[in-house]
Amino acid sequence: MTDEEYYTFIQPYEDAKEVMLARLHVLKHNLYGVSAGQPIHNIQSRIKKKASLEDKLKKKKKEPTVMNAKDYLQDIAGVRVICYFVDDIYNLVDALKRQADLIVVRESDYVRKPKPNGYRSYHVILGVPVYCLDGMEYFPVEIQFRTMSMDFWASMEHRILYKMERDDRDNIATELRNYADMLVEIESRFEIHSEKKQCQNQQKAV
Ligand code: GTP
Ligand code: MG
Repeated sequence: MTDEEYYTFIQPYEDAKEVMLARLHVLKHNLYGVSAGQPIHNIQSRIKKKASLEDKLKKKKKEPTVMNAKDYLQDIAGVRVICYFVDDIYNLVDALKRQADLIVVRESDYVRKPKPNGYRSYHVILGVPVYCLDGMEYFPVEIQFRTMSMDFWASMEHRILYKMERDDRDNIATELRNYADMLVEIESRFEIHSEKKQCQNQQKAV
């Protein structure tokens, strides 16, 4: 694909991503009401670069054309939402699912069911309506919800294992798997101090 084809092609994905970011910012402020803690620590987003779009199509044994990108790739627009607590992830997903104009394309709960390597995250691909002069079309946005500890692990694993060729891969993979378990333990200790748990404890004490 030419540069021009690429930039024309990704424009509505960019628009869909911006719509999603706006919805998430609204939820960040009002999901729990003004006086309660906010669910989101930070949000990152990206549009897949031309080269990685072409690489991914080649990996899928498809010609690197914009038509194939539209048909076979659902993570052209990507948003990563870093939360404080696991509950925040589920509350945000539920809130988005209640927004009647969004459609759920695909969902994977790697929080309740982590990948064998220890990866945890909640992935959902939502179809976001983009309106233009000719009408409306849904564009997919892949959203990854993670807590800070899930993001810490995934970022380190990506840095250490995804990218590098290493001969001690198996040992490192076992080590990372152990770290993933340790982080689940640490996360559950922080959970005790969440506003909601504190509130429940106070109610029990009364
Ligand atoms: P892709 O072809 O990578 O899109 O995989 P998929 O379509 O089967 O989707 P999946 O939900 O498994 O993963 C999509 C994205 O999640 C990846 O592009 C990464 O950003 C992230 N991810 C998934 N598994 C791992 C993992 O084991 N480690 C890390 N660091 N990130 C992961
Ligand atoms: Mg994917």
